[in-house]
Amino acid sequence: MIKLSPSILSANFVRLEEELKILEKEGIQYVHIDVMDGMFVPNISIGMPVIKSIRKATNMVLDAHFMIVEPERYIDEFISLGCDIINFHFEATKKHMDIINKIKNANKKVGMTIKPNTSYEEILPFIKYLDLVLVMGVEPGFGGQSFIESSLEKISALRKYIDENNLHCELEIDGGIKIDNVEKVLKAGANVIVVGSDIFEKDDKSAIIKKYNEIFKKF
Ligand code: DX5
Ligand code: ZN
Repeated sequence: MIKLSPSILSANFVRLEEELKILEKEGIQYVHIDVMDGMFVPNISIGMPVIKSIRKATNMVLDAHFMIVEPERYIDEFISLGCDIINFHFEATKKHMDIINKIKNANKKVGMTIKPNTSYEEILPFIKYLDLVLVMGVEPGFGGQSFIESSLEKISALRKYIDENNLHCELEIDGGIKIDNVEKVLKAGANVIVVGSDIFEKDDKSAIIKKYNEIFKKF
């Protein structure tokens, strides 16, 4: 099943609850939350208190994307905040299996994320333990960038590996997705689609979500 995971990085934070209600009304299952530390990426976004407030405001699945160095320092806190999916970057840590085990033992879903310059082969040994692989379509750090086309080959290769090995790992793409290039990532085999600016910068967010859902029906 194809899922849309709107990234609230481009939302109006003063009206966040209102914007979350629009997503709920449109039947959105995942909400993508970008946490940046100003070290792993050259930007600082939102942190723990905001996630706590979002958790109280909605029952949608919280798909958290942590762009922070040594995420192992905060795994307990991410779990207790009520994140449902915890994505950490392959490049940000040496303690991959410790992190995976901790998240799984807490009955949360674990995702591993790769930046555009990281080869998909690096994460193959971990895929059998993961619930999700998150492929970046842009250099992490900012919304509104252009999609890096070479990410398509990575998605195709990962889709092939997941299917051939009969794994149940979701394949998510994040960054640079717009209504006019989403078919390409769907064809390549992604099944969770993060969209930030193309939804939140529109006046009519419901209308654009409906357009994505129309395209998803073809896959
Ligand atoms: C970038 C973030 C993305 C971002 C996507 O580091 O991980 O989730 O919000 O934004 P768009 O869809 O505008 O590229
Ligand atoms: Zn993200």
